[in-house]
Amino acid sequence: MPVTGNPEANMSNGTVESNSVPEQENESQVVKPPSEISKNAYVKSLDEYEAMYKRSISDPEGFWKDILADFHFQEKQADDKSFLTYNFDINKGPVSIKWLEGAKTNISYNLLDRNVQKGLGDTIAFYWEGNDPKDESKITYGELLKEVCKFANVLKNLGVKKGDRVAIYMPMIMELPIAMLGCARIGAIHSIVFGGFSADSLADRMIDAQATVLITSDGVWRGEKIIHLKEISDKAIAKCGDSNLDVKHCIVVNHLPRLAVNKVDESTNQSPVKRKQFDYLTPFDETRDKWYHELIEKADDVCPPEWVDAEDPLFMLYTSGSTGKPKGVLHTTAGYMVYAATTFKYVFDYHPGDIYWCTADIGWITGHTYVTYGPLANGATSVIFEGTPFYPTNSRFWDVVDKYKVNQFYTAPTAIRSLMKFGDNFVKQCNRSSLKILGTVGEPINPEAWLWYYNVVGDGRCPIVDTYWQTETGGHVITPLPGATPSKPGSATFPFFGVLPVLLTEEGKEIEGPGEGYLVFKKPWPGMMRSVYGDHDRFEATYFKRFPGYYFTGDGAKRDKDGYIWITGRVDDMLNVSGHLLSTAQVESALIEHKAVAESAAVAMPHKVKGEALYCFVTLRDGFEFSSQLEGELKLKVREKIGAFAAPEVIQLAPALPKTRSGKIMRRILRKIAVGDSNFGDTSTLADESVIDLLLQHRPEAP
Ligand code: PRX
Repeated sequence: MPVTGNPEANMSNGTVESNSVPEQENESQVVKPPSEISKNAYVKSLDEYEAMYKRSISDPEGFWKDILADFHFQEKQADDKSFLTYNFDINKGPVSIKWLEGAKTNISYNLLDRNVQKGLGDTIAFYWEGNDPKDESKITYGELLKEVCKFANVLKNLGVKKGDRVAIYMPMIMELPIAMLGCARIGAIHSIVFGGFSADSLADRMIDAQATVLITSDGVWRGEKIIHLKEISDKAIAKCGDSNLDVKHCIVVNHLPRLAVNKVDESTNQSPVKRKQFDYLTPFDETRDKWYHELIEKADDVCPPEWVDAEDPLFMLYTSGSTGKPKGVLHTTAGYMVYAATTFKYVFDYHPGDIYWCTADIGWITGHTYVTYGPLANGATSVIFEGTPFYPTNSRFWDVVDKYKVNQFYTAPTAIRSLMKFGDNFVKQCNRSSLKILGTVGEPINPEAWLWYYNVVGDGRCPIVDTYWQTETGGHVITPLPGATPSKPGSATFPFFGVLPVLLTEEGKEIEGPGEGYLVFKKPWPGMMRSVYGDHDRFEATYFKRFPGYYFTGDGAKRDKDGYIWITGRVDDMLNVSGHLLSTAQVESALIEHKAVAESAAVAMPHKVKGEALYCFVTLRDGFEFSSQLEGELKLKVREKIGAFAAPEVIQLAPALPKTRSGKIMRRILRKIAVGDSNFGDTSTLADESVIDLLLQHRPEAP
């Protein structure tokens, strides 16, 4: 049990019940859950958490079977099947994880039909808040069930079957969860690509998944900017064609014209957004493209669910790989469903009647698990938000909190840091008294941002759940429980039920007690990934080879004297820009595609708002000169190949790169140059030490 020491004993240190928390040395700063929250919480104290946690580890079958009673299985496991079978040790055979194999269920049935049967038919499932504050809608569980059935029938009519991959490239609109659940209803595997990815990235993912159906929308407004998703989709489909993937159907949601219908410009009596639309005609291929609304109109609103095996795939979601090629992280049905539901319930302490809002885009894992699946599995009422925190003003988040009386609010450190920059007034002018619990996810949160979130946004009365997890883990794995866990600003605290974290030394030895090492997990939990789509060898090589017998997260962590876990960040060639994981190899291969670039190397540098940003070094081919125009072209290249969020912060000329005698780039040196640290340590393994001076000479003034 990693909860060592007695955290309660520390609570007198800097403990504040419902007031501001001062800045101080963070490891000793403990913030107790407010008694108001603990009193009504599912887990009321650290003792209760510890007892439940211990049971989840010593008797996982008993622990999860109690929870399973809340779910519908069309067929239970046959008696001879084992509840959980797994192998984490590649030396003993293929890595595998099977949970409830042989049982039959359907996630859309559990999230929709079952909730309607329980009497939640008229309960709001989602409030939709558009980019424009006047655009809004809502949908009940009863309506959602019908819409999902209609869309499932649309897919069936197009010939989509169980196991087929369906690509989704959509903005944050109601049709997105409908499309996901429509796929799940018929056993098709959805593969959602975040709407900020470029045409090339979308195509690469569709080709890898061999997806012959794409669901998209004509476009979306992000603040003042319009993004024509259908045009990007068309480019991606053309690229798929070049790789012999015949995309048979592209379903297009007609989203743009219905925007800002209330916002009428009095001089012309027309909505300004609409007026812009009149000049825009969505490109449409009559044989391949279909309007969503036309298909839905004719579809039946009853669709019996396809009963799938507990271990049948539910979805795949691509995440960056350190080789540069994204990996299709594969999640299966029952384990993911139960884990999403259970983490949502306990980590956000969601009670019926609460209004919950997660600001993440559904295109990332946070949106999959904590916008769609987890909340719906709990019959929750949530907000889906299309816009940005800065439009029309920097108060938008808090305006939305007040409008819907949001109780649980979940966002990313990068959003918190970018809002912090604008000062407290944008927050304080909003009421926010509905808020009970605040959450953060995606990257380590610095104590300064944690304290601002706690003291200013939460008025010193809302516990913060700093949830550590990954696309691969399916749901939270290290996290506080809001009514039970005394938190420390910047620490993700303790493991969730069923999760057994271990810190390892370089040699793979387990570190007991306080220390720092590689973060691994010793046992599977129901919601963890099962494979990399189409490449099980890569799954084993990425996560199980470095430390046989353990799942390796790729992160480092330390455990303090009270057993609190602090994530220290990636230990591989990945970086985390605004909560989005990127591999340096992916960026380097984009840069090298420019005709001027002979060689490139990308490293992470700390960034005040984004957490980390990209600092890239480029060596040019003969005949090319470094200029601001070239710099602009290279940044554009990365945007085109990956997406706007990956654009490098700094591009510096590197007449040569620091390499060892065997030709390996010494990134350690480049990271030092990026931050302006001239303490290079041992440079004796460099083939040519003079490279360092050359690089320093070309370092931009204020990168
Ligand atoms: O490095 C960790 C960081 O984000 C990585 C996972 O990224 P992704 O698969 O895109 O999923 C993000 C949303 C779950 C992790 O390996 N990370 C995520 N949450 C935290 C975090 N680092 C520190 N603290 C967190 N709370």
